[in-house]
Amino acid sequence: MDMNTAPIDPGFRSDVLRCFEEGSHAIPARWLYDRAGSELFEQITELPEYYPTRTETGLLERYCGEVAQLGERGRAVVEFGSGSSTKTPHLLRAVDIAAYVPIDISGAFLADSAAELKSQFPSLPIYPLEADFMRPLKLPVEVEDMPKLGFFPGSTIGNMIARTSVDLLRSMRETLGTGSQLLIGFDRIKDQQKLVDAYDDSAGVTAQFSLNLLHRINAELDGDIPVEIFRHIAVWNDLYARIEIYLETQSDMTFTIDGRKFGLSQGDRLHVENSHKYGLRDARLMLRAGGWSPLREWSDEQDFFSLILAEAHPYRHAP
Ligand code: AVJ
Repeated sequence: MDMNTAPIDPGFRSDVLRCFEEGSHAIPARWLYDRAGSELFEQITELPEYYPTRTETGLLERYCGEVAQLGERGRAVVEFGSGSSTKTPHLLRAVDIAAYVPIDISGAFLADSAAELKSQFPSLPIYPLEADFMRPLKLPVEVEDMPKLGFFPGSTIGNMIARTSVDLLRSMRETLGTGSQLLIGFDRIKDQQKLVDAYDDSAGVTAQFSLNLLHRINAELDGDIPVEIFRHIAVWNDLYARIEIYLETQSDMTFTIDGRKFGLSQGDRLHVENSHKYGLRDARLMLRAGGWSPLREWSDEQDFFSLILAEAHPYRHAP
């Protein structure tokens, strides 16, 4: 499609304008994932410094058999933010499932990955759902009566602040129903340099990933932001236990977006992403706050990453 005739996403436009108009200087991280951004993220997952993907994949390879034993057979696996579904085959192979429902906001990615999985698992019914999983969803009628296993890998939850994470967990519970299970990945608190390096790699791929947001603004919102004047930085915020990613200006500048003029001074920072990390019991408490009871947790030898299986028990009166 011709970029100039592509319809403007009103949500993207209002989030970007708010960033500069109200001086919040923050843009929700989900806008990092246009096609170029999603491809750059795939490259990030293969960087030597970026340990989460390979650590979690190792855990899935080792422990999906246990996940299978801890639940019923014939379940529908519902993946939230399935993206390219690269981790899904481990789960699908180990757990004897009846259907797969990948949910993603990007319809293009969804179709590609559903087709790819279809070729690997020809007899598995796949019902892709193009939707924003931050709200409760109605699942396809075909899986309504099947027991459900939610899958939310990658520590994607780490992009959200605590309040939003709890809202999301509650939405997932509503979508999947009482009695369902959820398999979810959490990146752990670890050596700070190790964390910073994972978000500021020596090849500069993560910097390209963040800076792509400015290119996207220029392309989709008729902007002329001088992207080369920005620098990607990753800092550890210990109070909030998270990596914060900023784009920092290296000189004063003015630019326009969608016909409006804005200015930034040297050293101003745009906050483009958070990646929260979790201590031993933090993730379990977060799950419980969202209505999920932890059943089992698996971690690698270095405690870099955890997979937790949780269940939506019926609500009971607590003492
Ligand atoms: C997709 C949110 C899990 O926080 O590690 C990686 C995103 N950003 N490098 C993460 C990301 C920069 C990633 N998540």
